[in-house]
Amino acid sequence: MTTSVETKVFRIAHISDLHFSTFTWSPTQFFSKRWVGNANLLFRRMKEFCHNQLDELTEIFIGKKIDLLIVTGDLSTTSKKNEFVLAQAFLNKIKNAGVEVITLPGNHDHYTKLDYRNQTFYDFFKPSISKSENVFSDVNLKDQKISVKKLPDGYWIVALDTSLATPLLSCHGNFSEQIEANLRKVLSAISDEDKVILANHFPIFTSDSKHKHLLRDNALRQVLSEFPKVKLYLHGHTHRHSVADLRNAGLPIILDSGCTSHKKKGSWNLLELNKQSCAITSYSLATQDQSKRWKERSTFNFTI
Ligand SMILES: [Fe+2]
Ligand SMILES: [Fe+2]
Repeated sequence: MTTSVETKVFRIAHISDLHFSTFTWSPTQFFSKRWVGNANLLFRRMKEFCHNQLDELTEIFIGKKIDLLIVTGDLSTTSKKNEFVLAQAFLNKIKNAGVEVITLPGNHDHYTKLDYRNQTFYDFFKPSISKSENVFSDVNLKDQKISVKKLPDGYWIVALDTSLATPLLSCHGNFSEQIEANLRKVLSAISDEDKVILANHFPIFTSDSKHKHLLRDNALRQVLSEFPKVKLYLHGHTHRHSVADLRNAGLPIILDSGCTSHKKKGSWNLLELNKQSCAITSYSLATQDQSKRWKERSTFNFTI
């Protein structure tokens, strides 16, 4: 007689760049960068995004038995409180369905100097993923710009906040020396036998113009090459979905969820983690069948 032992799969949904928005006619917007975001919203973004398609995700996440949802930034458009409230309501529905949610801010979530100084994002999205382990009880996403959570089967999630308020036409991030030091400290404390999923808003490479870069991205790539326990790097910001296995170059598997709320190119990724492997399934919008819009596209299987 043979007995089969069912191995538990841990499922993560990765979405990004939700860009909830509310338009304002308030003249106070002209005292900050917010008027640029509002003009952009009026002439471009309002036609580009559809937030109804996000509501369909809750049901899919329940059906797929998702354990954890990671949102890699740009939940809002100009960091207005009304925008954060909309994003919060969407995520609360998912939390109420029993899915744990991890959020980190993108450049649109620290949009004005005032919102960056006040760290308004964290009034709505508590840095909840630290303090689960004594060794990391002194770090949190708001203050140290890094947060840590242990998952089953030797996996860890490490989230970074590299976003900051930028000048009028810029949207770069900064992997500062302080964040680098904190990341090195966290990665050194995690066993070499374990596997780290690093989440950040910005990509480690970009072909976009310089004002969209992550400053000191070369320093981040250096850290990644020194710590091969970082198996997966999750990000957004580009609004272009991609899955790239860069392990031959000494870097992790890179996952860009794309912009999940984009009306035509909306996308996200499902990660199914086992002790030694990870299956990544990409989802995007079906253009034909409007009644069932999210379609499973391709699955990549990785041994890690
Ligand atoms: Fe974005
Ligand atoms: Fe962004």
